[in-house]
Amino acid sequence: MKTYAIAGTGVRARYMFAKPIVQDWRETSALVGLYDANRIRAERLAEECGGIPVYDSFAEMLADSKPDVVIVATTDSTHHLYIIDALLAGCDVISEKPMTIDGEKCRAILEAERASGRKVIVTFNARYNPYVTRIKELLTEGAIGEPTHVLFEWNLDTSHGADYYRRWHRRMENSGGLLVHKSTHHFDMVNWWLGQDPLEVYAYGDRLFYGATREERGERCQGCAHAVGCEFYLDLSADPVLRAYYLEAEHRDGYIRDGCVFDESITIYDTMSLNVRYEGRKTMNYSLVSYSPFEGWRAVFHGTKGRMTAEVFTSGPRSDEPEQTIELHLHSGETLVERVPKRSGGHGGSDLLLQRRLFGPAMPDPLGHEADSMAGALSLCVGAAANRSIAEGRPIRIRELLEGGGESE
Ligand SMILES: NC(=O)c1ccc[n+]([C@@H]2O[C@H](COP(=O)([O-])OP(=O)(O)OC[C@H]3O[C@@H](n4cnc5c(N)ncnc54)[C@H](O)[C@@H]3O)[C@@H](O)[C@H]2O)c1
Repeated sequence: MKTYAIAGTGVRARYMFAKPIVQDWRETSALVGLYDANRIRAERLAEECGGIPVYDSFAEMLADSKPDVVIVATTDSTHHLYIIDALLAGCDVISEKPMTIDGEKCRAILEAERASGRKVIVTFNARYNPYVTRIKELLTEGAIGEPTHVLFEWNLDTSHGADYYRRWHRRMENSGGLLVHKSTHHFDMVNWWLGQDPLEVYAYGDRLFYGATREERGERCQGCAHAVGCEFYLDLSADPVLRAYYLEAEHRDGYIRDGCVFDESITIYDTMSLNVRYEGRKTMNYSLVSYSPFEGWRAVFHGTKGRMTAEVFTSGPRSDEPEQTIELHLHSGETLVERVPKRSGGHGGSDLLLQRRLFGPAMPDPLGHEADSMAGALSLCVGAAANRSIAEGRPIRIRELLEGGGESE
């Protein structure tokens, strides 16, 4: 039996960690403490989980509940505070992605892990999606020979994508922007698929859709004069979880969950494009757009023996299809089409598979699904390097972030 304490009790902690531990993994796991900067949210979650102790400080939670493992699900820019303190207190850590948002905090985490002898796992649930896993198997088996190039396009739609402009993610200093907050998943997938490390990044980024692009805007949806007819209007009071965890808790910390997506204080990009150079002279072209009419992604791999295409639709006209296909076209003339059935559950079934690995009995890991701190570091550093490349107009080497050297971040 392992014991877990959670820092950060928002929606992700609620549906991914706290409720599953107490409902589905009681045989192997116990939840012993909850801490959040906003105590109201922690108390709501404690109540839903059958009365877990809530603490006023993280240090008090560590000292009193003595967890084996700390789960960190706070806002991205604060992960390092809890990861480092938990490691130095002798706990292992499960960190939500991104592990952190910049090179300096990343180096501090890696150093604390080394000094403590404890372990950080980063929750890259995307790896566990059966479709993503099948791509890893095919590439590992050499289905297209040695991979040489990846074209990777990711689109967020105006429902999911817009949500990042309503709350804390909208500011670079909180989330590192979507190139860190969101793309850390995508860069991790590519790093894992290729089994090689990224070396250098050149990027462009801009804000062309959200932010101060519309005259009819307010501060937030609640009470907004433009609510009627605004396609981005969000009624927090209509959703029981959003109401209880955010609307009714906002007087405590001022966390507004329905900020206007056209607010002029938004600093993150919505349109991003990168070139990444990998070990072994492999390259990737990557783009992320967060205002697409439908959501999904497409990856085209070229290798020494042929080409492989993968495509996923998570909203829009093709999202109802029961299976996803992977197409292979080989130089030998052979064409193969693999069909991978979709799984139900959060993030294409990947959340359940990740929970099984985190909270269930130990099991083999032949493809290396479990992501360590270096996987967390390498993927966030691609995004952080991209941010710096956009700001400075030059290619950025990943080593600049991993090793530091006086740069200002
Ligand atoms: N792997 C995935 O698919 C996935 C999906 C969603 C979110 N996430 C990650 O989970 C984390 C939480 O996201 P969320 O959507 O639940 O956000 P959220 O805003 O709902 O929750 C974040 C919580 O952190 C708390 N918090 C903020 N600053 C804090 C501080 N300094 N100390 C303690 N608590 C603090 C807030 O009060 C809030 O309750 C983020 O890192 C996010 O990237 C991962």
